[in-house]
Amino acid sequence: MTTKPATPGPTTPRPTAPGPTASPGGAAAASVSQIPAWGAASAEAATGRQPRRVTVPWVRRAAERDEPLVMVTAYDYPQARCADAAEVDIVLVGDSLAMVVLGHDDTLSLTVDEMLHHVRAVRRGTRRALLVADMPFGSFHLGPRAAVANALRFVKEGGVQAVKIEGARLDVVEALSQAEIPVMAHLGLTPQSIHRLGGFKVQGRGDVARAKLLDAALAVEAAGAFCLVLECVPDGLARQISEALEIPTIGIGAGGSCDGQVLVYHDLLGLEERISPRFVRRYAQLGALSRRALAEFADDVRQRRFPSAEESYGDPTVKTPMHTIDKLYG
Ligand code: KIV
Repeated sequence: MTTKPATPGPTTPRPTAPGPTASPGGAAAASVSQIPAWGAASAEAATGRQPRRVTVPWVRRAAERDEPLVMVTAYDYPQARCADAAEVDIVLVGDSLAMVVLGHDDTLSLTVDEMLHHVRAVRRGTRRALLVADMPFGSFHLGPRAAVANALRFVKEGGVQAVKIEGARLDVVEALSQAEIPVMAHLGLTPQSIHRLGGFKVQGRGDVARAKLLDAALAVEAAGAFCLVLECVPDGLARQISEALEIPTIGIGAGGSCDGQVLVYHDLLGLEERISPRFVRRYAQLGALSRRALAEFADDVRQRRFPSAEESYGDPTVKTPMHTIDKLYG
């Protein structure tokens, strides 16, 4: 986190879920067992209050607070609920969807309709986090007019608060901002440029590339972006850009000097195991856990250990938790 010129206006605290889980340190200070799940046991159900939603101005003023922004990707309803319950600040429906969920080798084939399908599911699962949709490859490359038309679909049909644009497409950033659609910019390694870049490689190495990236960062800020994702750039350059900009930077493979950090959901939780970039920290091994659980299920079925009497309908005298479900579905 770097010190930036403060923007005028009062410092607002982090929007937080009300009730016993709220603390000055927020979720970071809470133990895992304190993280609220949605449903009957959650604090909001007890208080009947909704969490306050993170806003674009709140994110834009990140530098005024001594707490880095937390962003994570999500692609469906349960993932969005988990991210929201963990009080991440920003949920991004990234076009990494194409790779980690749909199994493609790159992000290029993803369509606006495919993206929207997932954005709507994520929207249903987020109540606190700022919701951002990635504009897929091709959806903003035909000029500002087409970009605004596609971005409007994400706002109107997907319910997002902002869109993310890869590359320094200044006319597009400007047009979207003028159309009241906040833009998160994305520079450095931009996976939609994979053919021009020749692969997923660290960007901004060497004096020329470094100066070009710094100029691009200043330009997207001037064009109206409210924050900037920096992907796979050297730590020193990310620091220089973060210091030069007023808007916050959010890093992925850009070292610890950015104003926030983002990871892809499937990388963070060990669900994407095909590649493991050095900037990924795995906080769980859900891929291995899922394989073990599914193998156990398969074995139980084959050995006729599943289902048990308690997991079956038929005998009304057996009192099991299934009776609660019977009331709903019986
Ligand atoms: O698509 C994506 O997941 C992203 C993040 C890596 C920032 O753009």
